Order: sequence, then structure tokens, then C-alpha cells
Amino acid sequence: MSDSHYWPSMTDYQEALQSPTLAFSSSELREGAPVENKLGLPRPICGTFASVYELVNGPRRWAVKCFLRNTPDLHQRYVKISNHLRKCRRLGYFVAFEYMAKAIRVRGELFPLVKMEWIEGRQLNEFVEENLSSPSVLAKLGKHWDKLVADLRSANIAHGDLQHGNVLVRSNGAIRLIDYDGMWVPALEGQGSNETGHPNFQNPRRTQHDFHLGIDDFSAAVIQIAITALSRDKSLWEKYNNGDNLLFRRKDFLDIQNSPLITDLRAIDDDAIRDKLDFLIDACTSRKKQRASRRRTSQGKATSDQQVVKEASASTEMPQKKEAVLASSSWLSDHVENYGTATTESSPQSPVGLQKFFAWLFQRKRAT
Ligand SMILES: Nc1ncnc2c1ncn2[C@@H]1O[C@H](COP(=O)(O)OP(=O)(O)O)[C@@H](O)[C@H]1O
Ligand SMILES: [Mg+2]
Repeated sequence: MSDSHYWPSMTDYQEALQSPTLAFSSSELREGAPVENKLGLPRPICGTFASVYELVNGPRRWAVKCFLRNTPDLHQRYVKISNHLRKCRRLGYFVAFEYMAKAIRVRGELFPLVKMEWIEGRQLNEFVEENLSSPSVLAKLGKHWDKLVADLRSANIAHGDLQHGNVLVRSNGAIRLIDYDGMWVPALEGQGSNETGHPNFQNPRRTQHDFHLGIDDFSAAVIQIAITALSRDKSLWEKYNNGDNLLFRRKDFLDIQNSPLITDLRAIDDDAIRDKLDFLIDACTSRKKQRASRRRTSQGKATSDQQVVKEASASTEMPQKKEAVLASSSWLSDHVENYGTATTESSPQSPVGLQKFFAWLFQRKRAT
């Protein structure tokens, strides 16, 4: 990969995909044909930071994720993520993937991509919209979602960006998670995050320093509330969906006490919704942070800076959850070839020292 500042744009990838034999270094991808749009051009699916193409080679289908920005430590993160996910295959929520550091040629230089199994399914928002008139389907989806959230926690995984575009639902109702760029696994503890997730699903207080097992609690609750509420009252979709959310929007979190959506949700007679709403409200208001800093002031320097940061960032974490246990090695299974691998080719060095320095600086700032 180049040391220059150049990074391919969407148009660059679009051009490269027109000649797979020249573009890809992997022979499997070279022999693949991109699925085309109505104009006969490779069809990109645009996420937040990537263009994704579907490639077909006989019965095999891949999703090829081309990055629109350079994230210097992404390769190292993917190595740690794939090592961890390899132990959790039995969960069935993840796709087989391979991070390839030098994989797609653009303007004569090689850039990384993630090669994944292609998942046939609908994005969560599409699935929900298509089933607004089938409350039992939505109720079942809600149960699957609850289980997924609990399973991830027990397996010591936080996805980091739970939102409609990263959740695919298959025709049988099974859920698959994609987009692992922002994932937390224990080996990444202390590194901070490169992203803070979709604003319509995240606590606005979340920063790149909030990176721990609890970072999914907020977005998981946002999704759970929406699915359950829509199974009870489908008119909420018409009222609150804007095409880039389920029901909540960032502005609801910014002024949660005055959100009309919260008022409508409170009117639904459902204890689970109420409990989760209380959690969101608590997380979005300053109560927890104030409590954490009050405790610190009263205890002087009794708690470490690290603890204070953890308490202050706890607003992203569900209160009742217990310490998760490491995924059991009995989950090891070899039924998917090349599942979750990151190639060991050299990648740009991560500025780990700098990251640690900023993390330390941040902790000092929060502690003072
Ligand atoms: N393995 C896959 N199978 C099917 N569709 C996928 C797959 N990976 C990504 N996509 C589609 O591409 C979109 C963007 O991919 P994603 O990895 O989420 O990119 P970003 O990091 O930019 O958000 C997804 O929302 C999804 O619709
Ligand atoms: Mg995504």
C-alpha cells in the first residue's frame, strides 16, 4: 500500500471493478463477475465508510468491501477480531471474512479490502418495514434480537455499530451481523475506537474513548424498543421513520426529556419498553456522570483514573449486566473454511504509542 496521502474514491473503485482480472490480486476474485445495476455497471452498496460489491463466480458469491478512508490500524484490529470470532462460530451471527491488506489495484497501487461470504437477506429496516403488518414476525424478531444481544455479551464481543445497515435478516428470520470495523474484543481493550457508530442509534455522549464490552447496550436497546413498539403499534413507523433509522433519531437523544417519540412509547403498555426507555434516559442525561464525579470528589484520589473514566463512560452500559465470561473453547468448530481470517501481510504500523498517550491525556482531563 502507498505511503502517499492518496486514497481511492467511490469512483476509483467503480472503475476498478469493471476489470476484475486487472483489479484483484486474489485469483478467486479475479474470476468473479460483479453484480451489475440497470446501466450494466458494477453495483456498489454504499455504507458509511465503504463501497461494497457483490461478486459471483458460479455458485459462489462474495461481498467485497472497499474502504473509502485509510484506517491505519484496521488490519491489526481485524487480526484480533478474527482470532476471537473464530472461537465463536457456533453463535452463527457472523459472516466468514478475510481482511486482505494488498488486494485491489487502483492507479497502480494495491489497497486493502475485506472479502466476505455474501449474505442473502434484508437490512433490518427493510425487514421491519416489510413486516409492519405481521406483528408476530416482529415479535419473533424481537426475541431473536434479545438472544443475540445476550449471546454477544457472553461471548465477550461488542459489535460497536449496531444499526439497521449492519444487521441482515434472512428469509427464515435468522439474523446476521456485518461490518466489524468498530468491533470490540478483549484483545483490543485500551485501544479506543476509530468510530462511534450511527448517530441515530448511539448515545451522543459516546466518544472514541468509550470502547468496552458495554458499548452495544445503548444501540441494542434502541433497536429492541423499536421492534417491540412496532409490533404493538405500526403507525409509529409512518410517524418517525426517516429512511435512515428505525424510530429514534439523534435529536431524540439530545433532548430526550422532550422527545415526542418517548411520549408515544411510554403510552404503550409494556414493562420491557419502559425499562429500556429508563435506561436510555438515564444514559442521555447527566445523572451518571455527575454521580461518578461526585464519588470521586468525596473519595479524593482513592479511585484510579482508569476507574473514573470507566464510570463516566458507563452511560453507554446497561446497569443490570454482569461480568461476561470468556467464550468457551468448546465452541471451536471448523465447518467454515477460512472463517474470519486476516492475512498476515505487513500493514502500516499503528501509532499505538500515540494512542496510549492520548488515552492517558484523556484520562487526566476527565479526572481533573
Ligand atoms: N457480507 C455481506 N453480505 C451482504 N450484504 C453486505 C455484506 N457486507 C456488506 N453488505 C451490504 O453493504 C452495506 C455496507 O457495508 P458495511 O460493511 O456496513 O460498510 P460501512 O462500514 O461503510 O458501513 C451493508 O449495509 C449491506 O447492505
Ligand atoms: Mg456499516
